[in-house]
Amino acid sequence: MLFRHRFSYVLFLFIFGWASLPAQEDTTSLRELADANNFFIGAAVYTYHLDTPGHEATLSREFNMLTPENEAKMCEVQPRRNQFDFNRLDELVNFAEANDMVIRGHTLLWHQCMPEWFANGDFSREEAIGIMRDHIMTVVGRYKGRIRYWDVVNEAIDDNSQMRQTPWQQFIGDDYVEIAFAFAHEADPDAILFYNDYGAEGLNAKSDAIYAMVSDLVERDVPIHGVGLQGHFTVGDTRNWVSPTNLGANIDRLGELGLEVQLTEVDFRHDGDASDDILELQARDYYSITHTCLINPHCTAVVTWGVSDQFTWLRNSNLGFFNNPNVEPLLFDEEYDAKPAYHAVADAFREELGLDPVTEFATGNDATETEIAVNIPEPTKSDALQLAPDSVGGAVYYAAFPIAIVLDGNTDDWVNIPRVTVTDGPTLPMDNDTALTFAVAADNDNLYFLAEVQDSQIVYGNYTTSEWYREDSVEFYLNTTGDLEATAYQAGIAQIGIMAANLAQPESLLYGGNNSDQSQVSAIVVESSGGYVVEALVPLETGFWSIKPAHMETIGFQTHLNGSSGTDRDTKLIWSIFDVADQSYNNPSLFGRLVFWDVNE
Ligand code: XIL
Repeated sequence: MLFRHRFSYVLFLFIFGWASLPAQEDTTSLRELADANNFFIGAAVYTYHLDTPGHEATLSREFNMLTPENEAKMCEVQPRRNQFDFNRLDELVNFAEANDMVIRGHTLLWHQCMPEWFANGDFSREEAIGIMRDHIMTVVGRYKGRIRYWDVVNEAIDDNSQMRQTPWQQFIGDDYVEIAFAFAHEADPDAILFYNDYGAEGLNAKSDAIYAMVSDLVERDVPIHGVGLQGHFTVGDTRNWVSPTNLGANIDRLGELGLEVQLTEVDFRHDGDASDDILELQARDYYSITHTCLINPHCTAVVTWGVSDQFTWLRNSNLGFFNNPNVEPLLFDEEYDAKPAYHAVADAFREELGLDPVTEFATGNDATETEIAVNIPEPTKSDALQLAPDSVGGAVYYAAFPIAIVLDGNTDDWVNIPRVTVTDGPTLPMDNDTALTFAVAADNDNLYFLAEVQDSQIVYGNYTTSEWYREDSVEFYLNTTGDLEATAYQAGIAQIGIMAANLAQPESLLYGGNNSDQSQVSAIVVESSGGYVVEALVPLETGFWSIKPAHMETIGFQTHLNGSSGTDRDTKLIWSIFDVADQSYNNPSLFGRLVFWDVNE
């Protein structure tokens, strides 16, 4: 028998439930489930998409709330001064009423979609206030009693948490915000008036600034009734800055001011193609934010920014940073079929109603915060000569120790140490031929990392160590703190990127990465027949960390490959399945696990 012990070893992993589970036959729609919870599930709608087969039917069947995606913005309704065009907004309002959907009017004042005549004008404070009054009285007044919620001001705080310098702010001053709320209230005293913004969903400097601003408005009896948290997220964010704790705390503090909170523009983007893993993680994210909002009495709606992945603004936004022609951020795919994320939202609703979940996700516990425990099957070796067990997907690597290794670029001493090959990642060129094969081992003094890179075109020499990741390089990451859920870099956690440029044998090692300068890394890079080899070591004991290999002892571990075939990175390979958007440099909780394996056991 190969193993003497039975392992009761428990690792914390995701259960990937949706892909493998046939969705149970259940025809209860999201809107029925939301209605039963006295809650809104909404979607942004662009009139031009209404004709697409499936669009209207999905909207009216699944959503009880509607937001005009662009039709209520100033450049659309008042393209020329005093010439209002309500054709398309009327179409959406009529559609919503015909289908018994509550409308979120979005938005009265915003620095984008601002008509030229206003943005390029030169107005005194009094003139600008007059223009604002006309605009708000006309738009809100026209739909009095019909549009229940209004985003009165959108995105007034900038990314430095200061008042954004917009034409409104420049012509009028910071008090343009409260003036706008007063006009909207005058135009429709029953409308529920919101301030709406992005990047302020969890607790951070921007949400602090918004909290301060709305607290002040509430205190001075400005008619503001709610705060919209847009929710343009990245897959994985609910493990990080919008964890249930952070999002819940922000909703709580706004709620304590007497304000209603809604998630108003939710989508979850990701890099590259949407693999099944990404769609599973995305579903988990959707469950998390829906659950967090639903169980909080102040939070009344989740609105997704679109219906079908075919028509998401992220596929052709003018914000190059977000653009991804293959992004699938919403609840329905291009065929209007429900995605895993749809079932996850449904289960968040079902859970509150005491209905059986359709997936195996909603557990009744806060499964999104405390990871789901899975008994890792007894480690197995597919090859008797192997010195450590097989890896578990992109989640667990077993590192053999003690192994005598010499840092010389020769891989003979790595014989029988398990290798893992990574060929996938968020950024891949059309005909990708790059692969990263890695191994890890330790002796009594050092932890060793080996990368055998397959790469037909080794590119280096274009960047210095400050932008090491933009050309051929290999990264390994260690989290030695024992807190595998840590979401920020701190002592004991490092990202170490070794540049292929070391092939030119510089006087000192070319490397970079978060805290890498404290890792005391040494490395050798040599050319191989199909690419290059990186052999690296870090001491187990440094002032920065103390790694004590012991049988089944676990640390956080991740590895990436950066590939370039020209002037910039065009390939990104990632080992850990938890990192789907290249965020490991930011968030160590996305690493996989390295489990030490005593070869004498
Ligand atoms: C976007 C729309 O989706 C696009 O169609 C349009 O070209 C630009 O505006 N935050 C907001 C929304 O408040 O109004 C934006 O909508 C997305 C970001």
